[in-house]
Amino acid sequence: MRRLRTGYIVIKTLRYSSWPLLALVLTYVVTGYIMSGQLKLGVDPKTALTIHKSLHIPLLTLFGLHALGGVYLAMRRRRWINW
Ligand code: HEM
Repeated sequence: MRRLRTGYIVIKTLRYSSWPLLALVLTYVVTGYIMSGQLKLGVDPKTALTIHKSLHIPLLTLFGLHALGGVYLAMRRRRWINW
């Protein structure tokens, strides 16, 4: 019962974190190129830098949750862990 419930919470966390994570990663990469002058999209490099820096914490948090959830499920599927 406890195992089932943990799996449910983990899969929900994985799925809720996935699409925002994709959007964050793309924005992070695009703003990175804009601030380094390699891409021009009509956004000035200083604004791009501000956006880029504001993404560090959300990106690390969502990536951490998503990756940990994925690793947990993979380890459970392979029966390396049983909790
Ligand atoms: C920045 C990197 C990543 C992005 C943008 C990303 C994005 C996504 C997206 C869009 C999905 C589909 C979710 C859905 O079906 O609704 C997904 C699913 C999944 N991701 Fe990631 N992912 C990333 C990294 C990782 C990592 C590092 C792991 C594992 C260590 C991982 C494990 C999984 C798993 C296991 C699923 C399937 C969940 C399910 O059964 O629905 N992902 N991810």
